[in-house]
Amino acid sequence: MTAEKRDVSTVLISEEQIAAKVREIGEEIGRDYAGEAVLLVGILKGSVAFLADLMRAIPLEDVSIDFMSVSSYGSSTKTSGVVKINKDIDSDIRGRNVIIVEDIIDTGLTLKYLKEYLSKRSPKTLKIAAIFDKPSRRELEIEGDYVGFKVDDLFIVGYGLDADQKYRNLPYISWIKTE
Ligand code: IMP
Ligand code: MG
Repeated sequence: MTAEKRDVSTVLISEEQIAAKVREIGEEIGRDYAGEAVLLVGILKGSVAFLADLMRAIPLEDVSIDFMSVSSYGSSTKTSGVVKINKDIDSDIRGRNVIIVEDIIDTGLTLKYLKEYLSKRSPKTLKIAAIFDKPSRRELEIEGDYVGFKVDDLFIVGYGLDADQKYRNLPYISWIKTE
């Protein structure tokens, strides 16, 4: 992966489609946790766009956010099979409603690991929200509770998702060729 120029003009999922879907998920979370407090745990950096939009779409009074940073992919588009925690959350989650907010569920390695890791701290509930899901790539059995779009086995970029740290700022979803 070098600085070669890539064409990311193809719109697979538009800004408007994403916005509508995030609104739906926010309302669903609002219904599921009516009268309760929720802590959103964003997984850096890919979840930033989704988390920022999602938190404003949840019609609850008590919504907090926190972040974790993990690496699983290194700097290539291939998985290394290793999950490393670079930054943990600051919050105490015991007895709280926690929703892990991720950009995409691919092999499932990251979320499987994080779910087990966080469940050891005895949250009241622990769910997963992912704006994208590539079910055909799954290696471990794990499912999102709130999933936006199921996508084919393409390397997608935009709306927080990167290729070598680029394209996270695209407001829509495009894709790039990988070897
Ligand atoms: P998993 O552990 O294999 O499920 O991978 C999850 C992580 O891989 C995501 O949080 C993304 O950072 C990255 N990833 C997986 N598929 C894509 C993609 O199509 N585009 C960009 N990043 C991806
Ligand atoms: Mg990521």
